[in-house]
Amino acid sequence: MGSLAAFLALLVFFAPLSFIYGRSVASRIAREASARGRSRFALGWPKLVWPVLVGAALIYRALGGRAEGATSGWATLDAALALIDFLGGAALVLFFVAVPFVLGRVFGVVAALAGYFGENAAPPLRDGNESGNGAGSSGPQPGKERFGMTARLTIAIDGPAAAGKGTLAKRLSERYALAHLDTGLLYRAVGRRAFAQGVDLDDGEAAGAVARALTPSALDDGSLRGREAGELASRVAAHPQVRAALDAFQRDFARRPGGAVLDGRDIGTVIAPDAEVKIFVTASAEVRARRRTEELSAKGRPVDYERILAEVRERDARDAGRTVAPLKPAPDAHLLDTSELDIEAAFQAACELIDRFLAGRNA
Ligand code: DC
Repeated sequence: MGSLAAFLALLVFFAPLSFIYGRSVASRIAREASARGRSRFALGWPKLVWPVLVGAALIYRALGGRAEGATSGWATLDAALALIDFLGGAALVLFFVAVPFVLGRVFGVVAALAGYFGENAAPPLRDGNESGNGAGSSGPQPGKERFGMTARLTIAIDGPAAAGKGTLAKRLSERYALAHLDTGLLYRAVGRRAFAQGVDLDDGEAAGAVARALTPSALDDGSLRGREAGELASRVAAHPQVRAALDAFQRDFARRPGGAVLDGRDIGTVIAPDAEVKIFVTASAEVRARRRTEELSAKGRPVDYERILAEVRERDARDAGRTVAPLKPAPDAHLLDTSELDIEAAFQAACELIDRFLAGRNA
């Protein structure tokens, strides 16, 4: 009876601290689960290993621990008991830290599994106007002073893989003080997560569910820019369910006050058909494959040009041949063939187009 009362008194004493710690553990599990597409159970149970060990050792020590010189005759058991005894001793010394650690962790994991305190989990991609959402967006806020409060400048850049549209879009966003969204990253994140979750990439419904659950933090993964993620992206991008799930976010981004720069495959045709300037960046498959090969070789990853060329052609065929939002220039897009241009020349050519548009509007 006495020990039960002491145990309850301990619980009450440590409850506030354990609650605060447990709540942060629970929301961290919820956030990670939603960002990495893993179950709360898979992320939660490993967090119980240390608290269980420390708790058991503490109880063992509190019950008397290991008597001086006692041996069982089994070396392994003796070594384990000595370790537990030591751990329990350390936990006793750090009693005021060890107890809230054990109670808080256990409470946090149980709360996460029960679905509590998940409110800090990143929400799915919905609002493209969120700032600092990590959605592959960068650049300053729209330059209202430059273009006036009502004058929007949305620049839609489309084109096949490795045509240089990403670099161009980034530089234009800096030049015109606009936010930038690399829409390919959205599809890359969906492809990568669907693959990691064992989803059949040809199953539109399942891939669509992955896209609907996408959170901004999923886009912060640096490896998304690699070749493998590009291939996965191209496959899931063919499903209308996936495109529908990512549509509102991109449209909202394009309609930011002041404007934005977006690059992808269907920006000028589907996402922002009313964009002020549309540029379709292209280059021959051979030139793109050569650039890709040189880029990878420069990173110390020697690759076979013929293989890269085959991949480029295959991706072009898939992106341009799909029935929903295929890669094609909008009727009013400016074509920019970079086969013979380096990035600086392509940038200058794009700036000329945009400056001409701005001069016409302000005339
Ligand atoms: O631009 P990127 O290489 O990061 O794009 C990866 C794939 O994503 C691309 O092969 C097709 C798809 N994609 C798309 O279908 N629509 C977009 N707006 C952007 C990318």
